[in-house]
Amino acid sequence: METFQEQLAQRLSQALAKSGLPNVGELSQAADGRFGDYQTSAAMVLAKQRGENPRQIAEKILANIDVDLIAEKPTVAGAGFINFKLRPEAIAKQAGDLLGDERLGVARSTSPRKIVVDFGSPNVAKPMHIGHIRSTVLGDALARIAKFLGHDVVRDNHIGDWGTQFGMVIWGWKNLLDRQALARDPIAELVRIYKETNERATKDETIREACRQELVKLQAGDEENFSIWKQAADLSMAEFAKTYALLDIHYDFQHGESFYNDQLPGVVDRLLKSGIAEVSEGAVVVFFKDDVDLADKPAIIRKKDGGFNYATSDIATVEYRINELKRDTLWYVVGAPQTLHFKQIFAIARREGFDVDLRHIPFGNILGEDRKLMKTRSGENVPLQDVLEEAIERVRKIVDEKNPDMPNEEKIDIARKIGIGAVKYADLSQYRMTDYIFSWDRMLALHGNTAPYLQNAYVRIRSIFRKAGAARSTIDKIDIVEPAEINLAKKLAQFAEIVPQVLNDFRPNILANYLFELANSFHAFYEACPVLQSEESTRTSRLALCELTARVLQRGLNLLGIEVPERM
Ligand code: ARG
Repeated sequence: METFQEQLAQRLSQALAKSGLPNVGELSQAADGRFGDYQTSAAMVLAKQRGENPRQIAEKILANIDVDLIAEKPTVAGAGFINFKLRPEAIAKQAGDLLGDERLGVARSTSPRKIVVDFGSPNVAKPMHIGHIRSTVLGDALARIAKFLGHDVVRDNHIGDWGTQFGMVIWGWKNLLDRQALARDPIAELVRIYKETNERATKDETIREACRQELVKLQAGDEENFSIWKQAADLSMAEFAKTYALLDIHYDFQHGESFYNDQLPGVVDRLLKSGIAEVSEGAVVVFFKDDVDLADKPAIIRKKDGGFNYATSDIATVEYRINELKRDTLWYVVGAPQTLHFKQIFAIARREGFDVDLRHIPFGNILGEDRKLMKTRSGENVPLQDVLEEAIERVRKIVDEKNPDMPNEEKIDIARKIGIGAVKYADLSQYRMTDYIFSWDRMLALHGNTAPYLQNAYVRIRSIFRKAGAARSTIDKIDIVEPAEINLAKKLAQFAEIVPQVLNDFRPNILANYLFELANSFHAFYEACPVLQSEESTRTSRLALCELTARVLQRGLNLLGIEVPERM
């Protein structure tokens, strides 16, 4: 199935060829629907290249273009835009075809990649906090969309389980641990000893040094330190698993930094031998003299004391993903503060001769209502688990009020789908680089660009079908007459054009905003066009339009990692 955009683009190239003009310019959805549904700037691009009048070129193209079955006669507007307005019959036919297509018109990529999505990646012995939601939710959505588009996707949680924090955790374990507290609430106790050690180390050089020594011993394979590390890591992983279960997040691998330990000496040796790294003041360092961005930002890959760094394990990780997992594309969904780190890693990978697509996908911060980084009242990072539980609880209260007679199991299910959906959507509906304010009222609102609003549109359609006494519409013929019907069907046909766009710059917010517009078009349709009260065959056709809307909403939300309830 071809999208309207593809069909029109094809007609445009044919017209350009016929006019003896090169194939230039993009054909895209119109920014402003008043002038048409699609537009191209081809005439303007050509005019500029050739020093000619854009409107004249546009007329020449129009003389040779044949869009008869798809669109009305194209028009020229402004400085030379060519506008296309779809014919209602073409829209109706496309909508009918979409009903027969499981993929809702979304084509598989013609150049599928083998991708690793590195996302989530919290640090052991620290609680996962609200800041981790962005990487987790964004990475999950990108992985889902890439998979749906036909790419081969591996999801890897690059847990920080071997960082310098372990020097402190081990020192704290040996000197401060309260075993009873550990048995009661392992993570709280781990965090407590980590924090207290950290505080002491900041004030006291000897403790700082002792922590460093514990870390070196751990890295050298000391048995006692290894066993402490293992216990702490396992406790943390069990805690993360709870959060992932709530979020419905799944990984193919959870290769933490520790997974690459054995490979680190080899990495350093190889980089030294190939001349990429050099010894400098006792450390092993990679300098990037020819790289403007990094000229004064060398990367240390082995410290003076023999310890390895975050960078070293990321170089090993790149090698493993390319050589062992046979990947050709690596996506790192990691906050903007690590931009320099990834520039360094990617520069090193290129010097090693790896010819793969390496992308750092950064994102901004979540702010509290005071517009500062979100913190608890006592100034701590807000634990993610608490936020998710609160989201569910808040929705649960509303569900209780509205549907006191609903079975408890269903209430639990609805509260989770809506609560978690709201938190995810609040994030995904923003451009990833935007700092956004975390606001319960806004994200849980039933109106506006929120998950509950979209879920509610889906639920409304399901209730229409319940009233109609039919599970689903099985019709795949749609007739449309009313402007609200035309609008809705047109919007539905755009889904296939929107989904691939998300990956151009890793922006799930494009899909979120599309779904919001779709829900708006649906509500406008629902208000203007009676469904169940209409005469046949309008009734059947409108039911089919409802069905298609429900499917697109469900699939679209699913690609964002958000589930839909059948009632709410
Ligand atoms: N654990 C790191 C952090 O929380 C993120 C790891 C990202 N992935 C990577 N391959 N470096 O900052």
